[in-house]
Amino acid sequence: MFPSERPRRLRRTPALRRLVAETTLAPSDLVAPLFVAEGLSEPKAIRSLPGQFQHTVASLREEVRALVGVGVTSVILFAVPATKDDVGSGAWDPQGIAQMALRTLRDDFGDEIVLMADLCLDEYTSHGHCGALRGDGTVDNDATIELYARVALSQAVAGAGVVAPSGMMDGQVGAIRSALDGAGFEETIILAYAAKFASGLYGPFREAVDVQIIDGGDRRGYQQDYRNRREALREARADVAQGADIVMVKPAMTYLDIVSDLRQALDVPVCAYHVSGEYAMVKAAAANGWIDGTAVALEQLTAVRRAGADFVLTYFARELAEELGR
Ligand code: PBG
Repeated sequence: MFPSERPRRLRRTPALRRLVAETTLAPSDLVAPLFVAEGLSEPKAIRSLPGQFQHTVASLREEVRALVGVGVTSVILFAVPATKDDVGSGAWDPQGIAQMALRTLRDDFGDEIVLMADLCLDEYTSHGHCGALRGDGTVDNDATIELYARVALSQAVAGAGVVAPSGMMDGQVGAIRSALDGAGFEETIILAYAAKFASGLYGPFREAVDVQIIDGGDRRGYQQDYRNRREALREARADVAQGADIVMVKPAMTYLDIVSDLRQALDVPVCAYHVSGEYAMVKAAAANGWIDGTAVALEQLTAVRRAGADFVLTYFARELAEELGR
């Protein structure tokens, strides 16, 4: 290093560091995942996700009001139905818990928030897979995407501005786009879980939505293999070609190379999902006093932005927005 090169000059004060910071993280970059459950009389804490709840419709409205108050104006809704069946028909029930909650939030908040609906069947199927099964127990791709199209329509009718298919079926984006357009929902946005990996980090989420995959099964037959990088780009390109408006990478921290690849190769917005296991790990270490949880969350979510994500879905949304507002 030449004597004239002194990078520390630019690190001397907080104001200088802010001035030259290459990345920002603001409450408006965060999307809060929220759970609403059927048949609850009061919100129920999710043991593996400290600070997160299965909400009633009433407590959901309060939570969204609080989020808006700290500047988080986007939410993604997951619903936990009281009953399940083998095709997950509760997912497109106009009187289903997701649809009821979406209608309520739309009526309360209108265009003040971006209202996203996770679009999948696993919360609604008795076997816990993300689609309809064939006799041999494998997921029937083409039968499933027809069901996804129905779910998308019911969510759009109920007031979702964004539908977010997370089931990783081939052709799901195209099937949903044509169903929406065919019913006059040309403005409904599709946020595609484009590069969703079969990850061990979804564990706490499955507790949050009461999902158990039958016979100790997993989702490797449809979610991506974490040994692969090029495949993620190929699949994201296919989703954009089918009409995805935004693409997602999931999980976040172990897939920053994928976020960076998608950011460079595509010109649609790219987001990442900092998933339940990522949140739970930080919370658990913090609860033991081993790390400063809020500081680590800030570092991790800023890193996701640095890698190229325009926004991040995270269970830390409210906590970090409160921190950023201090
Ligand atoms: C599937 C879905 C999952 C998550 C979001 N949508 C679970 C899975 O694929 O098994 C995981 C989210 C998280 O872990 O925070 N409907």
